Amino acid sequence: MAIIIDGKKVSESILSELKEKTCELKEKQGKTPGLALLLVGDNPASKVYVNSKKKACEELGYFSIVKHLPETTSEAEVLTLIQTWNEDPSIHGILVQLPLPKHINELKVTLAIKPSKDVDGFHPENFGRLVIGLPGFRPCTPAGILELIKFYKIQLKGKHCVVLGRSNIVGKPLANMLYQKTEDTNAIVTICHTSAEDVRLFTRNADVLIVAIGKANFVRSDFVKDGVVVVDVGINRVEDKTSEKGYRLVGDVAFDEVKEKSYAITPVPGGVGPMTIAMLMKNTFLAASGALNYER
Ligand code: GUN
Repeated sequence: MAIIIDGKKVSESILSELKEKTCELKEKQGKTPGLALLLVGDNPASKVYVNSKKKACEELGYFSIVKHLPETTSEAEVLTLIQTWNEDPSIHGILVQLPLPKHINELKVTLAIKPSKDVDGFHPENFGRLVIGLPGFRPCTPAGILELIKFYKIQLKGKHCVVLGRSNIVGKPLANMLYQKTEDTNAIVTICHTSAEDVRLFTRNADVLIVAIGKANFVRSDFVKDGVVVVDVGINRVEDKTSEKGYRLVGDVAFDEVKEKSYAITPVPGGVGPMTIAMLMKNTFLAASGALNYER
């Protein structure tokens, strides 16, 4: 029987520890972690994400600002707002919800955020820090995946991790974290993407398979070997007439059949998803406590 990795349980334990540490930070140093969230336009999924992030701040006792600007907001206005937040000492973390409207250059906006406040870990300085093994903010979803693996005491040293997907938010940073020479990582890593004629030639050799491609039920039981650890980052809507909403959420992995061959597997929902916000909260706490020392 496969271990079903419980992201809700792990994220709740991280959040409850953070809540205690936040009380301590307030009492001992008189500091309250502050997160500024920017949403531009009316993307329904983005609205849900930003609301969840705001709610998480409230539950932990963080200070938060949510700025919701119209779709027509200019790039210059966004850059000016980020500059104000960069200089505001009550704001320790800045998050611009992506995607942005097409007329706004996402890279320019990402570059405008001060690296020491970039709690998403998307700034190229933070990506560079990750690659060369310097302290810095790590992107939340990859960091959450490593926390899950650690919580379930799955050893990565010398193991073959296959990452399906090469996005800037998940695949690339995660692959670069997995091979780092740390106690929790030190794995052998293969990055696999759409150019592979048959990804099964790679995935069948995985001790740990991480899938982040956004294709419903793509990974089937013939993609994996017995005893594999499977981490499913996908969140896909598929039509379901029996559900009230008319759809249900599934991952990139055909869970029911792949779990039969797995040592451990994350479900969707309730696997990786809940970890992302927990890691955002952790990054914001780190930013407020000054633990990452960006002056060096
Ligand atoms: N859009 C989808 N995922 C993310 C994320 O992790 N951070 C931000 N800022 N936008 C996103």
